[in-house]
Amino acid sequence: MVLDARNHDPAQEAAAEQVLLARFDTYYLDIIHWFFQTTLPDSTPSKILDVGCGTGHLLEACDRSLNTTIAPSFYGIDLSQYLIENARKRFPIYQFEAGDATRMPYPDETFDLVYVAAVLAHVPSAIDILKEMVRVTKVGGKIAVLDQDFETAVLYPGDKQLTRSVLNAAADYWSDGWMGRKLPSILKSLGLTDITVDARVRVDRHFDKPFFERIRNWVVESGFPSDQADQWFVELCQQASVDEFLFTRNWYAVAGIK
Ligand SMILES: C[S@@+](CC[C@H](N)C(=O)[O-])C[C@H]1O[C@@H](n2cnc3c(N)ncnc32)[C@H](O)[C@@H]1O
Repeated sequence: MVLDARNHDPAQEAAAEQVLLARFDTYYLDIIHWFFQTTLPDSTPSKILDVGCGTGHLLEACDRSLNTTIAPSFYGIDLSQYLIENARKRFPIYQFEAGDATRMPYPDETFDLVYVAAVLAHVPSAIDILKEMVRVTKVGGKIAVLDQDFETAVLYPGDKQLTRSVLNAAADYWSDGWMGRKLPSILKSLGLTDITVDARVRVDRHFDKPFFERIRNWVVESGFPSDQADQWFVELCQQASVDEFLFTRNWYAVAGIK
């Protein structure tokens, strides 16, 4: 599905869009507000780009977070033509482009603020995307990144060893399950200055069975023994209905100046 950017089958894009939309109704809006609050204090950008913009909702959240009298112009780019067509219908006041963020159709030094949220950990081209983001940002402009670090996942209940093994295999299924912790160092290596780092823990107390079934499938696809993955999943389903369930992950908001 588009969500993990490995499979761009158009038939699955509607399902991927539903997953993206559903999370705005749960934890994600809160994370997004925190991301903009922590990365945009006192910012007054006039031209803003959302890279891997998906449904377009982050542009609206950014628009609302900015405290400026001059109306900025907002742009979004995403690989998925399907998501972009729907984003255009949803938010006709923003300018959307279907395209690859490793080769963006904008001239050098176009934007005052360029951000990317929940994309880089999923894609093999993270560094190329960030280099393009630096290219299209004005000197003195800001680049901001939001991403999670899946290897910070904490899960209860479950057998300790088996749970550790499954969660580590799940982190390795991602293009980079360590993206969150690496962001400050990556932004520095790209020449950005005044780097800020903030982190937030996402807390789930509700057992989302389909999500954990997806984790079971990810790890088996990556070569983890299916009998052990099945044992983990079956035991988790049983125990989560008895014990108090807890699943947490760290999200990182990192920004720098070009
Ligand atoms: C998990 S979604 C996140 C969407 C949105 N940023 C959000 O936070 O809701 C990842 C998005 O990155 C897009 N994407 C992946 N690789 C891309 C690339 N090379 N160029 C542009 N978009 C890309 C996908 O199409 C998908 O919409």
